[in-house]
Amino acid sequence: MSTAISKVYSWSMQAGLQAMVMMDRLWGNLIIDPSLKASPHPLIARLRLKGNILRSYMINGWAVISHEDVKALLRDKRLSSEVFESALIQRVIRSAAQGLVTPIIDYPNIVNLDPPDHTRLRKLAAQSFTSRFIQSLTPKINALVSALLDEAAGNEEVEVMDVLARPLPAIVIAEMLGVPAEERHYFEQWSAALIKYAEILSADAIHEAVLGDLAMRIYLQELVDLKRTHPGQDLISALIEAEEDGDKLDIEELLSLCTVLLVAGHETTTRLISSCLWLLLQHPEQLAEVRSDRSLLKNAIEEALRLEPPVLALSRLVPETFDYKGHTFKKGHLVLLSIAGANRDPNVTPNPDAFSIHREAFEHLSFGHGIHLCLGMPLARLEAEAALNQLLDRYPKLTLPEQDLVWSDSPFFRGLEQLTVIAGSE
Ligand code: HEM
Repeated sequence: MSTAISKVYSWSMQAGLQAMVMMDRLWGNLIIDPSLKASPHPLIARLRLKGNILRSYMINGWAVISHEDVKALLRDKRLSSEVFESALIQRVIRSAAQGLVTPIIDYPNIVNLDPPDHTRLRKLAAQSFTSRFIQSLTPKINALVSALLDEAAGNEEVEVMDVLARPLPAIVIAEMLGVPAEERHYFEQWSAALIKYAEILSADAIHEAVLGDLAMRIYLQELVDLKRTHPGQDLISALIEAEEDGDKLDIEELLSLCTVLLVAGHETTTRLISSCLWLLLQHPEQLAEVRSDRSLLKNAIEEALRLEPPVLALSRLVPETFDYKGHTFKKGHLVLLSIAGANRDPNVTPNPDAFSIHREAFEHLSFGHGIHLCLGMPLARLEAEAALNQLLDRYPKLTLPEQDLVWSDSPFFRGLEQLTVIAGSE
C-alpha cells in the first residue's frame, strides 16, 4: 500500500472507529461512565431519538429502549437468560477470577437459566413465596419497621437509608432464610460485592464479585448443613424439603437460589423505599394527598418503581441468529433491555418524566416480565408500604433538606446512597 493510500486508509479507519466509539459511548456510558449515575434518564431520552433498537459494538450486541420491544423481547423464546454462556463474558470473568471457581458461570442461578431448568427451579422456589405466606409476614414487618424507627426517635434529622431503607429488607430476607442475627452483617458486604459482576469492564470489580460469591457460598453451605440436621420454620429448611414430582433442589441449586434471594433482599427494595420517599418529598402537594388518603400510597410506590426502577436493565443472550424488526440479532450477541427506557416511553404514557400518583394505569416493567417475573414482587411491595406508611405516620411534618444526593455506582442498580430528611416535631 502506498504511503498516501495507507494514510487515507488509516484516517478513514480512525474516522469509522471514532463514529463507532461515539455511538457506543452514547449508550455504553450507561454501563461505564460514573458521571451518569446522577441520572441515566436524559441520556436514554437522547438515545430514543436515534431509535428503539440500537447496535453496540462495545457489548457486541444491542440496546433496546421502547416499552413495546422490551416487553416483547422479555417474552421472546429466541433470547436466552443464560448470559454467562456468552464466550465474551466467560472470558472476562474467568480471567478476572484468576483461577478461582466462578459460581455464577459454573452453578447458574434461577435468573440466569432457561426452561426446562428454569421451570423446574421456579416451581420449587415458588412453593416458598406464595402470596398467602408473604401476607402472613405483615405483622412481623410492621413490628420491625416500628423498632427500626424507634432507634431514631427524637432525632431532628433522620438518615433514612441507615435507619430504615437498608436494614429493613436485609433483616427480612435474613430472617426468612434463617440467618442468625449476629451474622447478618456479612451479607451486606458480600451482596455489595456480588452486584459488581455487572461492572464487566473492570477486572478488579469482577474479582471482588467472585470473592463475595465464594464467601457467601461457603457460609451458606454451612448453614444448609445445619438446617438439614436441625430444620426450622425458615426458607432454607423449606427449600431443602421442597419437592415437585419427586424432584428436589440439589446443593448447588440451593446455594445459588439463596444467593439470589439475599442479593435481591439487599439491593432492590432498599432503593425503592428511598426513591419513593425522595419523590414524594419533592412533590409536597402529592405527598399531602397521600397523607390524607393512604390508599394512594400504592400508586406512589408504583410510580416510583416506574420513574426510578431499582433494576435499570436486564440482559439476554442470542443463542441462534434471528431477525427482529429488520435487525439481525446474531448468535453470541448480547441484548440489553432497558427497563428505565421502557418505563419512560412517551408512546405509552404521557409526560413520562413527571411524577404523578394519578397516572392512568400503566404497566411498568420494573419487576421484569414473562417467565422470570420477580418472585419477590409481593414482598417488595409489602415492605415498601410498611416502611412508607409508618414514616408518614410518625413524621407528619417531614421535609427534604438541601443535600448533595449521591446515587449508587452500579450500572444496573439505581438508587440513593444516602437520604437525609428533617423529621419536624413528631
Ligand atoms: C423493588 C424490589 C425489586 C425489584 C425492582 C426486583 C426486580 C426484579 C426483576 C427485574 C427481575 C427479573 C430478572 C430477569 O428477567 O432477568 C427479578 C427476578 C427475581 N427477583 Fe426480584 N426484584 C425486587 C425484589 C425482590 C425481592 C425482595 C426478592 C426476594 C427476596 C426477589 C427475588 C427475585 C427472584 C428469585 C427472581 C428470579 C425469578 C426468576 O428468574 O424466575 N426480588 N426481580
